[in-house]
Parts: sequence; C-alpha cells; structure tokens
Amino acid sequence: MKIEKVTGNKKQFLDLLLLADEQEDMIDRYLPDGDLFALYDGDLKSVCVVVPVNGETCELKNIATCVKYQGKGYGRALIRYIADYYKSDYKTMLVGTGETPAILSFYKSCGFEEPHRVKNFFTDNYDHPMFEGDIQLIDMIYLKKDLQG
Ligand SMILES: CC(C)(COP(=O)(O)OP(=O)(O)OC[C@H]1O[C@@H](n2cnc3c(N)ncnc32)[C@H](O)[C@@H]1OP(=O)(O)O)[C@@H](O)C(=O)NCCC(=O)NCCS
Repeated sequence: MKIEKVTGNKKQFLDLLLLADEQEDMIDRYLPDGDLFALYDGDLKSVCVVVPVNGETCELKNIATCVKYQGKGYGRALIRYIADYYKSDYKTMLVGTGETPAILSFYKSCGFEEPHRVKNFFTDNYDHPMFEGDIQLIDMIYLKKDLQG
C-alpha cells in the first residue's frame, strides 16, 4: 500500500471525490488549495482532501474509497496516515458530514468525536435536496479528532 500527496491535475480524481461530495462546484471550492492524498494498493483505492482552517485546526473536506473496495480498511488507513502527517502542524482535525449513521460510525471508529451541528447546512448551500439513501441531509454534523493526544 502506498499513499501519495498529489500536486498536479487533482481533477483526475473527480469521479472518486464526487462519491463523497456530489456537487462539483462545491468540490471546486476546496480542491485547488487543498492537500490531496491518494492511496494505492496496486491500483487507486481511496482519496482525501485536507484544508487548513486556522493555525491550530485543519479540516478533512472529502474522503472516498472506490465502491468495490469499501469496507476493506483503506479509508481508515488513509485517515491514520493524514492524522500522522498533520500532527506536527495542527492540534485538531475537523470533519463535517451529513447525519448518516454509517458515515458517523466510520469517523468514530477512526477516532473522531464531540459532534456539533450546523443547522440547515445542506439545504442552505446546495442547489438541490441531498439524500443519502432515504435520509435527506439537512444539518452538517462536525466531528473532531485530537492529532496530538
Ligand atoms: C466512508 C468511506 C470513505 C469509508 O472508507 P472505507 O475504505 O470503506 O472504510 P474502512 O474499510 O477503512 O472502514 C473503517 C471502519 O469504518 C466503519 N465503516 C465503514 N464503512 C461503513 C459502513 N458503510 N457502515 C458502517 N460502518 C462502516 C467500520 O466500523 C470499519 O471498521 P471495521 O474495519 O472494524 O469494520 C467509504 O465508505 C466511502 O467512500 N463512502 C462514500 C463516500 C462518502 O460518503 N464519504 C464520506 C463523506 S462525508
């Protein structure tokens, strides 16, 4: 398994990034300035994007594993790698997500905790109603991970 920080042509990963964030113009807000990491195990398995928030905090804006490789530990391995990569620069990593139990349990299994909520984030910021299965995404749930603890 190898993980690379990608600097050129980040849009080559758009199909995978759209799995986690289905609206391209939202991805365009963070991809140009974000750090993009790609995990390969033979071929491409997972990607993620991290941006700085302030001097103490960075934010995981997108993480996705190719559908046929989900549930095999690649997402967790990528989070472990970026948590280590950023621990000398930031105290905390944030991640925001919809109210989807499977995704919340994924992040919690990766050491994220203490959720707080941004009311109506998805209805205010996206141009169409967003669904994860049958559940409409309304509020954004923020989780955080202590990188230095
Ligand atoms: C969320 C996602 C990135 C997880 O990546 P992954 O490579 O499948 O995750 P892992 O295999 O490393 O899973 C790690 C742990 O998370 C949990 N988990 C992952 N997917 C889960 C699911 N669908 N349901 C319940 N728990 C899940 C499990 O507890 C797993 O632990 P285990 O190994 O003990 O079973 C991946 O499912 C994905 O790309 N989903 C679509 C995009 C998306 O929604 N991204 C998040 C946007 S907020």
